[in-house]
Amino acid sequence: MTHPLIIAVDGPAASGKGTIAARLAQTYGLPHLDTGLLYRAVGMGLLDRGGALEDATLAGMVAGGLDVRDLRDSERLTSRGAGEAASRVAGYPGVRAALLEFQRSFAGQAGGAVLDGRDIGTVIAPKAVAKLFITATPEVRALRRWKQLTGRGEVIAYQDMLADIIRRDERDAGRGAAPMVQADDAVLLDTTDMDIETAFDAARRIVEAARVRHGL
Ligand code: DC
Repeated sequence: MTHPLIIAVDGPAASGKGTIAARLAQTYGLPHLDTGLLYRAVGMGLLDRGGALEDATLAGMVAGGLDVRDLRDSERLTSRGAGEAASRVAGYPGVRAALLEFQRSFAGQAGGAVLDGRDIGTVIAPKAVAKLFITATPEVRALRRWKQLTGRGEVIAYQDMLADIIRRDERDAGRGAAPMVQADDAVLLDTTDMDIETAFDAARRIVEAARVRHGL
């Protein structure tokens, strides 16, 4: 039986991991799950119900009742506010536990899958064939996210974007439940000085090397 090609792509916000994961999925003909969308949908679902971001119990219930249809409004889910809400609810163990099974079964599909997030290589798919940890300096990531958000009409100053990114890194890496951390066997890819083509090419080479190692 051939090993399923599971590709885990982790890293901080606006590192390029989402684009890289989507393109890897396309290249290898695999399904792709942006796991950040799950946390974003929980954060927005909580706010939609009039809940406070401090309400871990309600956040856990929203996570437990999440439906794939809740992931459809990608414009809303990729807004700045949704990112902030996601990072807050992602710290609650009850939220993470409620989302675990869905992510594990997505990763366990017969032919394999590509998942991107913060804890894919460490918690969701520790046996993934290829693990990448994508990063870039906070300044470059803030600039990328600022261009993306202002390009579609959100009004935000670059300095505020940078402060957001730094605060989110601290929260995502500092939480007790499945913190953002590079897995021991993940390959680090720093995209600070790379355009997306160069970064994707480097990512593809990392996956190719992992496939060779696993005889795939
Ligand atoms: O990747 P993103 O910016 O869409 O993620 C939004 C937030 O969700 C992020 O700040 C932390 C959380 N998250 C997480 O804790 N674990 C994941 N696997 C994916 C996202």
